[in-house]
Amino acid sequence: MKALILSGGKGTRLRPLTYTGAKQLVPVANKPILWYGIEALVKAKITDIGIIISPETGAEIQEKTGDGSNFGANITYILQDSPDGLAHAVKIAQPFLGNSPFVMYLGDNLIADDLSEYLDEFILKNLDALILLRKVSNPSAFGVATVNEKGEVLALVEKPQNPPSNLALVGIYFFSPEIHNSIEILKPSARGELEITDAIQNLLENKKLVSARELKNWWLDTGKKDDLLEANRIILDTNLTSENLGIIQGSTQIIGRVKIGKKTKIINSTIRGPVIIGDNCYLENCFIGPYSSIADNAKLTDTDLEHSVILESAQVLGIQQRIVDSVIGQRAKINLVLKRPKALSFMIGDDSHIELT
Ligand code: TTP
Repeated sequence: MKALILSGGKGTRLRPLTYTGAKQLVPVANKPILWYGIEALVKAKITDIGIIISPETGAEIQEKTGDGSNFGANITYILQDSPDGLAHAVKIAQPFLGNSPFVMYLGDNLIADDLSEYLDEFILKNLDALILLRKVSNPSAFGVATVNEKGEVLALVEKPQNPPSNLALVGIYFFSPEIHNSIEILKPSARGELEITDAIQNLLENKKLVSARELKNWWLDTGKKDDLLEANRIILDTNLTSENLGIIQGSTQIIGRVKIGKKTKIINSTIRGPVIIGDNCYLENCFIGPYSSIADNAKLTDTDLEHSVILESAQVLGIQQRIVDSVIGQRAKINLVLKRPKALSFMIGDDSHIELT
């Protein structure tokens, strides 16, 4: 059994973060989203992993993630010249996949369920495809399945205007090598991509064995800001254990589950968990509220923050109002020089979002 993680793509929905970095490396609880997928596969004893990368962000992914030895895996990187669809990614990975069955895992997806249970079913029933489904309130944004009373898949359609059900396809699929024959005959869809939903639809039409299971627990597709914040909230809620390797000074109060990294200095601040703060950060006169993740080398002073993600080396200085539901990019700097500024001065990149409410 092999795995193929898709970590190319355009990442338009996470701009401007994705202008300068891969969306799969955006951290959730200070760990790249992609690494959760690798860990889930290794936990299910799948260690031969191919990762699809794009020319724009591939080098960064490769450099940070390495050859897999940190995860107990063996990683092969596969370059996809342009993001021509999920099925296109499988097509170019065929030399790596050979005749092996495989798990296809979208590199920006996170699930709580263990993969092993689904993997066992896929192998035991000798399926050609096992897809995972989850009820959603906005099915038009996803691949959607029609399933009969017995749970058999009848049809699949990609991002339908009039969804036939509320069952969305989760970004984790199990395939036999039969999928390659289906992909071979695919034509690009209206949006110009080779769609994996069309490839599975081909399997169905050729009476191949396609089965579906509904996920028991949460699933997050972290391709948008709100989903990213929600992933951060859930992971901090379920996975975080307290640890303090930093330097705590003055009247600082640490309440609840809080993890603080090496060489981080916290002065006269209140941290109310669950909160994770990386290495080498500096916080002074701050309130950091629940569900916040602050990455390495960040600096925050006179700032009140909650339910937010601060990326590496960002600086938030002198913001007296509470910052909520925010994602601050790497090296970004927000600096309120005066308490009641007479004027605001900005240098803001394309697609940045600032709400003064
Ligand atoms: P998407 O989130 O559907 O596509 P995208 O990354 O282009 O994002 P956006 O819609 O915001 O522009 O892709 C799901 C995952 O699959 C994601 O990790 C990127 C990856 N991917 C590839 O590796 N190759 C591809 O051709 C496509 C379309 C996606």
